[in-house]
Amino acid sequence: MSPPLGQSSVAAAPNRHLLETTGLSVSFDGFKAVDDLSFYVNKGEVRAIIGPNGAGKTTLLDLITGKTQPTKGHVRFKDLQLTGMREYQIVRAGVGRKFQTPSVYESLTVFENLEMAFPDNRTSWSAWRFRRTPDVIAKVEEIAELIYLRDRLRDRAEILGHGQKQWLEIGALLIQNPELLLLDEPVAGMSARERESTGKLLLEIALNRAVVVVEHDMDFVKQIAHRVTVLHQGKLLAEGSMDDVQKNPKVIEVYLGH
Ligand SMILES: Nc1ncnc2c1ncn2[C@@H]1O[C@H](COP(=O)(O)OP(=O)(O)O)[C@@H](O)[C@H]1O
Ligand SMILES: [Mg+2]
Repeated sequence: MSPPLGQSSVAAAPNRHLLETTGLSVSFDGFKAVDDLSFYVNKGEVRAIIGPNGAGKTTLLDLITGKTQPTKGHVRFKDLQLTGMREYQIVRAGVGRKFQTPSVYESLTVFENLEMAFPDNRTSWSAWRFRRTPDVIAKVEEIAELIYLRDRLRDRAEILGHGQKQWLEIGALLIQNPELLLLDEPVAGMSARERESTGKLLLEIALNRAVVVVEHDMDFVKQIAHRVTVLHQGKLLAEGSMDDVQKNPKVIEVYLGH
């Protein structure tokens, strides 16, 4: 497969990480928000990114998705050099990103929200209604089941709870079948039960892709993360299993101890 216009491809090698950042740095007016960060994520993995406020977590997601361009270093996803690519190209390459606040079409039903998310249906508002093929319906129902909204398909999004809207937005991302899903504090404002359901959902999603979650809720991180990356002042402070990271004196000092 040849890469879309404007992308340079990197020589393919077997058994490589799905996502890799190398020496990634960005400065804002001389302030290093992300500083020489090298890390990688594998397929099948749920990775949590934790760290104090201002550590650079959201900026890291901005760098991966092309919202922000690095001052130094680069990001590789599969055999693509993401650095320099436009945001929409990165989405098309298979990277889905969810911001912290839910953004769904309030006046549309759950079904319509998911249907709208089909890549081919997005560009033309008038055309999408005619694309309600058996394939589309089956996919929407499959995703709705996964995000616990199978019996809410006919309801408008505006009457859903906060947690359900978050799931709907995750569902809309899944319709696009990303290989890498980036989520910024997905369980903020959720009930304990919703958090647990979200954890199950993310573990299931990650079976055939990778999920990177920025999160503050340590119980949630414990439930879902295969590995944890701790950022502090834009740098990688520690990385490993939740158990290892929790015992790390540096992590306790700057983050968990507070
Ligand atoms: N576009 C920007 N311009 C200037 N400073 C920024 C910008 N984006 C982030 N920052 C700064 O970079 C630091 C890291 O921010 P952020 O990545 O949002 O942290 P986190 O998500 O870990 O709380 C903060 O000090 C923030 O103010
Ligand atoms: Mg943030």
